[in-house]
Amino acid sequence: MTDSTTQDAGTGKHEAPDEARPDVQAVVLVGGKGTRLRPLTLSAPKPMLPTAGLPFLTHLLSRIKAAGIDDVVLGTSFQAHVFSEYYGDGSKLGIRLRYVTEEEPLGTGGAIRNVLDQLTADTILVFNGDVLGGTDVRQVLDTHRTSGADVTMHLVRVSDPRAFGCVPTDATGRVTDFLEKTQDPPTDQINAGAYVFRRAIIEDFPAGRPVSVEREVFPALLSSNRHIQGHVDHSYWRDMGTPEDFVRGSADLVRGIAPSPALGDRRGESLVHEGAGVAPGALLIGGTVVGRGAEIGPGARLDGAVVFDGAVIEAGAVVERSIIGFGAHLGPRALVRDTVIGDGAVIGARCELLRGARVWPGVTIPDNGVRFSSDI
Ligand code: GTP
Repeated sequence: MTDSTTQDAGTGKHEAPDEARPDVQAVVLVGGKGTRLRPLTLSAPKPMLPTAGLPFLTHLLSRIKAAGIDDVVLGTSFQAHVFSEYYGDGSKLGIRLRYVTEEEPLGTGGAIRNVLDQLTADTILVFNGDVLGGTDVRQVLDTHRTSGADVTMHLVRVSDPRAFGCVPTDATGRVTDFLEKTQDPPTDQINAGAYVFRRAIIEDFPAGRPVSVEREVFPALLSSNRHIQGHVDHSYWRDMGTPEDFVRGSADLVRGIAPSPALGDRRGESLVHEGAGVAPGALLIGGTVVGRGAEIGPGARLDGAVVFDGAVIEAGAVVERSIIGFGAHLGPRALVRDTVIGDGAVIGARCELLRGARVWPGVTIPDNGVRFSSDI
């Protein structure tokens, strides 16, 4: 995955609360297992992982609310109870929130079909629950209305489209093809994971079995000559599915590069939550976030670190572009770079963990236990 772009619609400047849109309902898909983010997703669903100090999903729900939409259905499956226990009826966020749970995951298309009973509006906005985005939701809805499309798909331009669904459009913006992960992409426009459907289109999705909206529904709609319109922009966009993207997205939120109405103007080089202790001489930069009750020792250097609640980082440790799980412990002068440390893991003094290492929850590595050099 490459850098996302942050241009015209990426600042969130259009995201001030606006007129209510009772004619629109939103569906957020949050039932995935988040395998690429293991081990963090063993204990929490991906959309609930703390991102700039809030569950990731709160940033998305606050954007939906800021666009005037206050009726939201969550399509849940994996660890469904975690969502309802945290958000309840949604009233704390000023929205009406309902949950529909799949006993077995139905895939992205099956999950949308599965919430149909809860949908009464004719205009249904659907979001993947793991995309950090900055597009102006109201402009996507405007494109849908003015084009009269059956489906409008948010498309974002990226520098390397090969890892995504590549979506060419004609001169009128109408989608002409849908190419999942092609090595030879004909355009830099990719499926950004946000769609507007006419409700009648969802009624025709196959029911009661797993369906992928990307691999099955969109190709079928195109071949039956349904009107799919693209809404193309250069807004901030990041799929938070991998540790690398999760770290980067969190840092972008902390630094104000990624918009989030939920954070207001609490932005800067670092974000330290209440109850956390940061010793004098510790350096926190690069959009580092320190969770509640975490402790950072003297001389520690954290650059682009995501430190979950209750973690401890001892004196002189260095953490770069890494996630430190709930209650994990880094010993003195440990070095952690591009790594995920699972909840409650204990990393001994002077250990070095680099380049995509993942430490499983509760694992203990003794002092000097892993090194990339021979001098101790
Ligand atoms: P990986 O296992 O790491 O690929 O992550 P994932 O399971 O989240 O899959 P992916 O990133 O492709 O999913 C995109 C979005 O759709 C995420 O917000 C998922 O939570 C959601 N999603 C994926 N599969 C399902 C499903 O079967 N049911 C529901 N309700 N949501 C799903």
